Amino acid sequence: MYKIKNPTLEKIAVEVKQYPDSNIDEVAMAGRSNVGKSSLINSIVNRRALARTSSKPGKTRTLNFYNIDDKLRLVDLPGYGYASVSHSERDKWAQTINRYLTSRENLREVILLVDIRHEPTNDDLEMYQWILDAGFSGYVVATKMDKIGKSRLQQHLKVITQKLGIKDRDLLIPYSTQTKQNIEKISYILFNEKNE
Ligand code: GTP
Ligand code: MG
Repeated sequence: MYKIKNPTLEKIAVEVKQYPDSNIDEVAMAGRSNVGKSSLINSIVNRRALARTSSKPGKTRTLNFYNIDDKLRLVDLPGYGYASVSHSERDKWAQTINRYLTSRENLREVILLVDIRHEPTNDDLEMYQWILDAGFSGYVVATKMDKIGKSRLQQHLKVITQKLGIKDRDLLIPYSTQTKQNIEKISYILFNEKNE
């Protein structure tokens, strides 16, 4: 497993001209507000609070670029599906996300995060279909695994697999920031699958 040495918050951006150089591959984390995108990034880089998290949805409102040893950037996206903000604000976030996802030439993977406890929403399905259509692998991380009992794990994974139409069971990775179970799978996707 690749041992991360020096993760930094390299850049916070909204507009394309604010993005960092496209000289390093990027992997973006997409998903609903509060699903655990920022927490997953902290868990991967082994820092408690490099990415800001919150128990309330709508914490991340910008594109946050985390540089890992100049090898890879993890990109924390604003969440979608957060009802308690104005339409115009939501449109702004959606635009920020879409602009990034559709224009970034060094984007290597987009990983979709869903909460393991709930059936994915239509927004999740739309995002997943976009990810597949864009030619990415279609990895899904099912977050907050610690919140369901072991005996219910397979049933929950089945619901997610069916709703999203996940083609290969290796694409779906249940994860918990509490136990870090399956961190090696995520690390492999990020650091070993690199198309060099
Ligand atoms: P936005 O920035 O609003 O889009 O949310 P986000 O997807 O970045 O979620 P964030 O990482 O801020 O996490 C939301 C809440 O879920 C926080 O209270 C986290 O502590 C909690 N959380 C994230 N992952 C896990 C997990 O694996 N287990 C448990 N128990 N809680 C988690
Ligand atoms: Mg966040």
